[in-house]
Amino acid sequence: MEFDNYGSHLRVFEKVFATFGIKKALEFGLGKFSTPFFVNHAEVVVSIEQESKEWYERIKTQIHSANWRPLFQPDPRVVFEHFDASNQNFDLVFSDGAAETRCLVANLAMERNVPVVVLHDTEKVWYYRWNLLSIPANYGRFNFRHRRGVNKITTILANSNQSILEQWDIPDHDRILQAYSSPCQPVIQLRYDEVRSSIDRLNRVP
Ligand SMILES: C[S@@+](CC[C@H](N)C(=O)[O-])C[C@H]1O[C@@H](n2cnc3c(N)ncnc32)[C@H](O)[C@@H]1O
Repeated sequence: MEFDNYGSHLRVFEKVFATFGIKKALEFGLGKFSTPFFVNHAEVVVSIEQESKEWYERIKTQIHSANWRPLFQPDPRVVFEHFDASNQNFDLVFSDGAAETRCLVANLAMERNVPVVVLHDTEKVWYYRWNLLSIPANYGRFNFRHRRGVNKITTILANSNQSILEQWDIPDHDRILQAYSSPCQPVIQLRYDEVRSSIDRLNRVP
């Protein structure tokens, strides 16, 4: 697969779909990467566009599949309540939509005990307000960073199979930090090479 900054999550999704029995997927933020992937790998896919009618119409002209249901709705609360009302559950929720509600999408999904919740761009903690993540104690958090010089992080929050995720090796990705659940603070990584050079500097002080 050609690497593309914006498709840095697809390798992670390949692994997610190989590990978990994902039949129904709900994504916020539709596009050229995740949406065709989900449509090809899940039985039912609901894709929510929150911001751009133009983008929504453009992607709709490109994907024609009976298992795909695109919707335009800015407010994720309306989306979750709509599916609550008809007792529809999802196996996976992907949060890749409007910046101000990315964290809300994740929290709404975990409140409903969705087995796998995937977050895109978790390296931008303050921009996407990931510090407001409220991770229940039964979830584990796993961060995957693309190795090729770009600081792109995809996070998986999972409420089962955590020991499998712990062992994952994803081509082109480092697993940054093993899971933790609450408290909900962002993961700050200390890279070993950085730590080592700091220690070396300290050791040189006479
Ligand atoms: C990061 S994109 C979603 C990508 C998608 N999940 C994927 O993996 O292909 C998130 C949002 O950015 C906006 N967006 C992205 N490209 C756009 C474009 N060329 N014109 C207008 N909006 C765009 C849309 O609102 C879209 O839902």
